[in-house]
Amino acid sequence: MARLKVGVLISGRGSNLQALLDACADPAFPAEIVAVLSNRPGAAGLERARAAGVAAGVVDHRAYPNRAAFEEALDRTLRDAGVGFVCLAGFMRLLTPWFVERWRDRMINIHPSLLPAFPGLDTHRRAIEAGVRFTGCTVHFVRAEMDDGPILVQAAVPVLPRDDEHALAARVLEAEHRCYPLALRLVAEGRARVAGVRVEISDAAGPAGAVLNPEA
Ligand code: GRF
Repeated sequence: MARLKVGVLISGRGSNLQALLDACADPAFPAEIVAVLSNRPGAAGLERARAAGVAAGVVDHRAYPNRAAFEEALDRTLRDAGVGFVCLAGFMRLLTPWFVERWRDRMINIHPSLLPAFPGLDTHRRAIEAGVRFTGCTVHFVRAEMDDGPILVQAAVPVLPRDDEHALAARVLEAEHRCYPLALRLVAEGRARVAGVRVEISDAAGPAGAVLNPEA
């Protein structure tokens, strides 16, 4: 079966991009990354793409007079590269409804909290301040509202007594690197179907039962 042609949009470090590149390096994986685009010229993720032999380019938002022109360029570059599905991986530009609609149900994002809790920035600091016992990460289809949209995969990650936001971020990031390839695989295998505000996933089992924190 033909592999799903994926474009990844980044702005920085690119560790989630790396997790996707690693997954796609397996010829049996049902998706391949055909383009990596950053809105920031210095993004470290660009080097990760090149090291993996994937075309990497910059669409610098500062080079365009407005958001519409920037997004038209982004859209054109993705289409010219033959991209059929977009993964946002630490892409730090808000996308307009125009772009979101063009890629509706063909664009996913990863966010470092258990949505709908803690949308936006500083998720780990806010989770610690709120005293939640679990936080985590979410892969979801993108809608015009920020950090909103049908949820594909989540990982629950415990908040431990001595955590500061860096320790918690590191624990969540490990989970992100497992969730994003899983989510992409579900989509590429045709096992994830958007149904209203939810995603229906076929042939997938959840964990056996509740996880407690603290355990005793
Ligand atoms: C991740 O925490 C992701 O959830 C968020 O931005 C961060 C990007 O990190 N959207 P990286 O560039 O993938 O390392």
